[in-house]
Amino acid sequence: MRFSTDLAISALLLAPAFARNVDLYVPRCPATAAAKFTTQIPSGSPCPSTEVDLCYTDTALQLQFTANGETNFYYDPTQTTNGDIWEYEVMEAFIYKGCDDPQTYFEYEVNPNNVTYNAFVYNPSRVRTAGQPFDHAFIVDPFGDGFGVNTVLDKANGVWKTQSSIPLALFNGEKPKGTTWRMNFFRTITSPATYPDQQLCGWKNTGLASFHITPAFGTVKFI
Ligand SMILES: *[C@@H]1O[C@H](CO)[C@@H](O)[C@H](O)[C@H]1NC(C)=O
Repeated sequence: MRFSTDLAISALLLAPAFARNVDLYVPRCPATAAAKFTTQIPSGSPCPSTEVDLCYTDTALQLQFTANGETNFYYDPTQTTNGDIWEYEVMEAFIYKGCDDPQTYFEYEVNPNNVTYNAFVYNPSRVRTAGQPFDHAFIVDPFGDGFGVNTVLDKANGVWKTQSSIPLALFNGEKPKGTTWRMNFFRTITSPATYPDQQLCGWKNTGLASFHITPAFGTVKFI
C-alpha cells in the first residue's frame, strides 16, 4: 500500500518531464511535416510566412526551408562556410536529440547564397545569460561529413527555398523513429537600407530578441 502510494507520488512528480506536448510529428521521407511561422520574435508582429518541411531517412534529417515574401535576398557575397552569415538574412534550425531543455545543441543556418553555418552551441545557462559561458564548436568540413544543401531563388515571386540534409550520426540519432527531439526554427530579415538591424522571426517565440533560449524550443517526435 505504502509502496504504491510512493510510486503514485513519484509518477506525479516525474510526469511533467515526460508529458511534454509534442509540437510536430515528423514522418519518414518522402512524407513531410511542416513547421510554419508568420510572426516576429519577441513582438509577435507579422513576419513573411516561413516554412520548414521535415522528414527523416535512416541516416539523415532532411529540411526544406521556404522563405516567402522575400524582397532583399540580402547576404555578403564574401562570406563562406561558417562565416558570420547570421549578420544578414538566414534561415536557421536549432536541433537537439532529447526531451530536456538543452545546454548544447546544433545551430544550422543557410543564406540565400547557399552558404551554411554549422556549429554546436555551448550555452550552459540555457538562456545565454550575460557573463555566463557561451561558445561554438564548428563542424569544419560539413560536406565531407555528409551534409547536403541546395538553394533556389525565385526572385520574381519573392521565394527562397533551400533543401538541406543533416547527418543524424551527428546526434547519435540514426534510425530516429520513436525518438523525441527539441528544435526551433528561425529567419532573419534585413536589407541594404536597414542593415545591421534585423527582423527576427521564429517558430517558437523565445520571449526575447535572442534565439538562444532553449526552454522555448518546440518538441519534435519522429514517427
Ligand atoms: C549549394 O552548395 C552545395 C555544397 O557546396 C552544392 O552541392 C550545391 O550544388 C550548391 N547549390 C547551388 C544552387 O549552388
